[in-house]
Amino acid sequence: MSYPRAWIEEIARYEGQDVELRGWLEARRSSGKLHFLQVRDGTGTIQCVMFKGDVPEEIFEEADHLPLESSIKIRGTVRADARAPIGYELAVKEMEVVSRALPDYPIGRKEHGVAFLMDHRHLWLRSNRQRVIMAVRHTIVKAIRDFFDERGFRLVDAPIFTPAACEGTTTLFEVPYFDLGHAYLTQSGQLYGEAAAMAYGKIYTFGPTFRAEKSKTRRHLTEFWMVEPEVAFMELDEDMDLAEDFLVHIVERVLDKHRRDLERILERDVSKLEAVKKPFPRITYDDAIRILHEMGNETPWGEDFGGDEETLLASRFDRPVIVHRFPAQTKAFYFKRDPNDERLALGMDVLAPEGYGEIIGGGQREDDLDTLIRRLEEHDLPREPFEWYLDLRRWGSVPHAGFGLGLERTVAWICGLHHVRETIPFPRMMERITP
Ligand code: 4AD
Ligand code: MG
Repeated sequence: MSYPRAWIEEIARYEGQDVELRGWLEARRSSGKLHFLQVRDGTGTIQCVMFKGDVPEEIFEEADHLPLESSIKIRGTVRADARAPIGYELAVKEMEVVSRALPDYPIGRKEHGVAFLMDHRHLWLRSNRQRVIMAVRHTIVKAIRDFFDERGFRLVDAPIFTPAACEGTTTLFEVPYFDLGHAYLTQSGQLYGEAAAMAYGKIYTFGPTFRAEKSKTRRHLTEFWMVEPEVAFMELDEDMDLAEDFLVHIVERVLDKHRRDLERILERDVSKLEAVKKPFPRITYDDAIRILHEMGNETPWGEDFGGDEETLLASRFDRPVIVHRFPAQTKAFYFKRDPNDERLALGMDVLAPEGYGEIIGGGQREDDLDTLIRRLEEHDLPREPFEWYLDLRRWGSVPHAGFGLGLERTVAWICGLHHVRETIPFPRMMERITP
């Protein structure tokens, strides 16, 4: 007899039917005539109940000794069971071992330290918690794409090997590059996004970006994914509107799809996410400094905010807060200055609530050729590798703006994770490039 293959995620539609599940033995409990086998197939875990009398003797024996993480095909009848976490279980009729695992699967039921889990990331990914985090990450990526696609933004892929710095020279990764000497791994697709916005009006780039960050914080990776919209004829206020709509959309999508898993498996307080509604408070950097001083933080005017300042500021609000008009000295060369106050850059950061820090950084770009050339000099940047970028100001320059959202920080915030290391399948950090 042949059984249709079913995925655990969709098991409800097979109630009362015979199916085949293909997966891994995650846990087992036995009591004489009964084995309770927890079987995982990547979409979920289901309890499979094997009665001694229902299967051949040798299969019952085998199920008793099969090492955890052995891969199996298991067949039986799907039964509704109100006590089961997923509402169903499988009454087993047949089991076939595909690959018998070695004994002593490294990840057990006991608590492991972070270093151990990170060393076994390739196996840790199998856990229920990691499955949910990766599913949320997927949903966020899809929500990002849908948001821009539905609004007519063109997807443009920026290169990863680049000739010049976008976000300051201190965090560049240099790689040898044939006879040309060296290239840098991109810190941001923005400069290419600007060229594309001048070509196609509204665009977004979405890909891996790299920063040689010498910071071992819970918010920093050396390789992370960034999505960067860029829009011609858009100024700072509309840029903030776009960022706001964008975040509201992402959070709504995740709540729609993963509310139960967020609550049950990640123990996320979803009421905090439900508060993410328009409008977000918008405060200037000057307001932010005033608030910080009121709260006993002494950051002097002119300094950039670190994680501590971001956490303090965000604690005053129940939803993301937008801080705009930063001192130009804290920002990259490409920012346009505030026409009302030359000391300020027309930049904005969106700070996530609950101490997750800056998840979006962006702003309006300098669109005047001579000013931009002066900025390159002020920032000690070489002119030659930026000539193409200056061309965008030579032929049809327009006001334009955009932003970058860090995917991993967004996943950490929405899932309520302490550290970004769990938000990406194989995190790259200062002290880790394996597995
Ligand atoms: O604020 P950043 O540096 O902005 C840019 O790169 C602009 N060129 C974006 C633009 O306007 N098109 O980085 C943007 C976001 C941050 O808000 C943060 O979420 C994330 O990228 N990010 C990091 N995430 C993880 N690890 C790091 N080391 C990160 N550095 C930045
Ligand atoms: Mg930033």
